[in-house]
Amino acid sequence: MNLAIIGTGYVGLTSGICFASKGHIVKCIDIDSKKVGLINSKISPIYEEGMAELLAKVIDNGNLKATIDAKSAINESEVVFICVGTPSLKDGSINLDYIKQAAKTVADNLNSYKVIVVKSTVVPKTTEEVVGKILKESGKEFGLCMNPEFLKEGSAIKDFLEGDRIVLGVGDKKTESVMRKVYERFSQKIFVTTPRTAEMIKYANNSFLATKISFANELGNLCKKLGIDTYTVMDGIGMDDRINRKFLNSGAGFGGSCFPKDVKAIVSKGLAEAEPMILLRAVIKVNELQPLKMVELLKKHINIVGGKIGILGLAFKKGTDDLREAPSLIIIDELLRQKAKVIAYDPEAMNHAKKIFGERISYAKNSNEVINSSDAVLIVTEWDEFKNLDFGKKIVIDGRRMNPKSDSSEGICW
Ligand code: UDX
Repeated sequence: MNLAIIGTGYVGLTSGICFASKGHIVKCIDIDSKKVGLINSKISPIYEEGMAELLAKVIDNGNLKATIDAKSAINESEVVFICVGTPSLKDGSINLDYIKQAAKTVADNLNSYKVIVVKSTVVPKTTEEVVGKILKESGKEFGLCMNPEFLKEGSAIKDFLEGDRIVLGVGDKKTESVMRKVYERFSQKIFVTTPRTAEMIKYANNSFLATKISFANELGNLCKKLGIDTYTVMDGIGMDDRINRKFLNSGAGFGGSCFPKDVKAIVSKGLAEAEPMILLRAVIKVNELQPLKMVELLKKHINIVGGKIGILGLAFKKGTDDLREAPSLIIIDELLRQKAKVIAYDPEAMNHAKKIFGERISYAKNSNEVINSSDAVLIVTEWDEFKNLDFGKKIVIDGRRMNPKSDSSEGICW
């Protein structure tokens, strides 16, 4: 089938490459001509395992092309995917400006019946009442679908091709049959529902996983005080099928481009509907306080004013250079506020960190440099190379269960 994809960010590019790998003819539309040039030269603008190889393959066999020409790409397509960003506004609510612009671009170029699919994460009713409304103003016939994406950074290609399920939120049977054809060569189960339910499934999914983590962190903080190992408790409850062990690792808290933004957005939507959103507000609160625990624990061991504190790990999780909403940012800000000096190292995220912190902190070339030139070390990201490191007599606060070897180490929840 001929597919057009608007937006070549994480979701858009992954979708484009994966659909092309399944034999569709895909046009990836972006307003950034530099990015379009890179993609067409088989250079992936983001790093994802397996992406570079698959991109080269689908460019070589002619199944994927990037373009700034939205008109031609939309005109030639049977299905148009909207995969633009939905950032947070200052109050935590969702910014739909890019979604509206993309919908307007599609509406202006509708030349025949097409199915328009929202893949971006949008709060319930956006597909019908914002995108659908803009499309209707064109006076043309179209089908509308909300098809949320559940990919994780670091395993985006695998998650797209082999994820747990495909959710299709459709308004009518014709749209459903077009979408089933799009996913014909995928082996996942297809779950069909309404657009607003599909939108909510995405928020419910991320909010539930975030809730599991804040639950594990709150219980973990208490377990530590009671001399109980929280990981053993989670192993114990994880054996209950109704709970399962995943996303119950307590630590410095969740970050990234999705969990914090999405939980805030659904809370904000709830409050707008006069729902108090007590549980999910608490999930956010627990997560905001959790990184600060590391600084509190550190202060039991040393006076941090003027002290040199090493940070091992800056990225929001291992396997990425992404610093968005990373617990490390909260920790470093707090250390600097309390007049400590900071030296940091991350295997992938140093360049991004330099842009954020500039000369306010110093940067090490490896873990050893951090260990040798600091009074105490905080382990903030679960990179494999930080596992079982030898710190000698150094004070270590372990935020990710990395089991440091040290005479005076302490875990955040253990
Ligand atoms: C997440 C969702 O998993 C994915 O389905 C959605 O599409 C986008 O958001 P991602 O942001 O890539 O994916 O990260 P994920 O691997 O889910 O981890 C999120 C955060 O939770 C990380 O900061 C991680 O360190 C933290 N985490 C995860 C914990 O603190 N404990 C856990 O047990 C699991």
